[in-house]
Amino acid sequence: MKILLAAAEGAPYVKIGGLGDVLYGLPKELASRDVEVAVVLPLYKRVQEQWGDALTYVCHFNVPLAWRRVYCGVFQHAQGNVTYYFIDNEYYFARDHVYGNYDDGERFSFFSKAVLEMLSYIDYMPDIIHAHDWQCALIPLFFKAFYQQISAYANLKTMFTIHNIEYQGKAPHSFLEEVLGISQNYLSDISFGGELNFMFSAICLADKVTTVSETYAQELKTAYYGGALSSVLEGISYKFCGITNGIDTQLFNPHTDSNLFHRYDVKIMAGKKIGKRRLRDQLGLIQDEEVPVVAMISRLVPHKGLDLVAHVRHELMERRIQLVVLGTGDSVYEDMFSELAYQYPGRVSANIRYDNELASKIYAAADLFLMPSKSEPCGLSQMIAMAYGALPIVRETGGLKDTVWPIDPNTGTGRGFTFKSYNAHDMLDAVDRALYFFYEKKPAYKKVVRLNMETDFSWKQSAGQYLAIYHSM
Ligand code: GLC
Repeated sequence: MKILLAAAEGAPYVKIGGLGDVLYGLPKELASRDVEVAVVLPLYKRVQEQWGDALTYVCHFNVPLAWRRVYCGVFQHAQGNVTYYFIDNEYYFARDHVYGNYDDGERFSFFSKAVLEMLSYIDYMPDIIHAHDWQCALIPLFFKAFYQQISAYANLKTMFTIHNIEYQGKAPHSFLEEVLGISQNYLSDISFGGELNFMFSAICLADKVTTVSETYAQELKTAYYGGALSSVLEGISYKFCGITNGIDTQLFNPHTDSNLFHRYDVKIMAGKKIGKRRLRDQLGLIQDEEVPVVAMISRLVPHKGLDLVAHVRHELMERRIQLVVLGTGDSVYEDMFSELAYQYPGRVSANIRYDNELASKIYAAADLFLMPSKSEPCGLSQMIAMAYGALPIVRETGGLKDTVWPIDPNTGTGRGFTFKSYNAHDMLDAVDRALYFFYEKKPAYKKVVRLNMETDFSWKQSAGQYLAIYHSM
């Protein structure tokens, strides 16, 4: 079986969020089974700069897009058994930002069509194109409108995975003919709520639709999470399910992570203490071995639940904790954490940037990991935190619910501390339960840390579930 995964991000080449991790870990695990796997990504400027010399030229051709013929080059690079293809067009991709350009709709429309067109020129015709998120959501529609009829493409199936429904890809109706070159006959396949909705079209047209946890799959069928698309998803229940992501356990492993001050594992935990001491020095935090480090590593955007933290931030800092934050995003949250660090010198460290190396050091130093998301399709950080021996404090939503089972303080079973409703004081209550466990139940706390570190969060199980779906197609 041959699979082509199409996405806007894939580590190690380009990673903005969890999507990038998935497009590294999942193909790698699939390729270790009986599957031929390739991934296709845009050739962004940053990929060209960092990897340019290592890429091999494959071919070039023109992609028909409405009345235009748009240049497309293809390059490739092998990552173990996985071939990564890169779609080259400097006008669209030689830019400083991966997302957030005014013409993202057009850029990723080009990309999606180029992926299909490419199959006529390269030596790889997959059985399934597995498209990820809104940037690749037009693949099933382009397939239906232009490629299905071509004999070489006749057996191709499409699958679509929703990593986050917050971003759907929208455009005015005129975009259909003018930019995509798709006739109005297909309008009903993509028009939703009075505009074009890329994700809607993929949900309707793909042979299978998945999302990244079982709970999120259920949640998406409710208006609170799925918005207007909830009833559409309810209607496709027969071809829709959730598969919880894994993490790459070679990459996210405190025993091998070269970013750490000092490596450690479940048997020899001394390195975690050393790492915490060094990080406190680096970040200007007070050296106090008793006090736990509570970490947050997150994009600083509303659905990560940062309003809860904002609401009780001073009450939170009345607790005996140190808080370390890493991430970028909306300026209200960036400013809120920077100000908090100013107000609590030596106790709060706000690192408003994207920094993989520092992220590893923080996971390693953390005792508790706070992730109060309003919605969380899967979330990888809570699994990384557990693998590095920090107990998660999470809201029971999406993948957080599926991976962090609440600790029963009497029996000591479970993996972390959870709360249900989106309420700041419920979150604070979960923090208090975690602190009680940390301060008053040391042996039980250490036992959960150990069991979490020994838990298999790898891609093995998820890859098996993906394989079952691929085969069923
Ligand atoms: C998105 C989601 C996150 C998920 C990731 C990978 O970034 O917000 O919850 O873990 O995709 O699927």
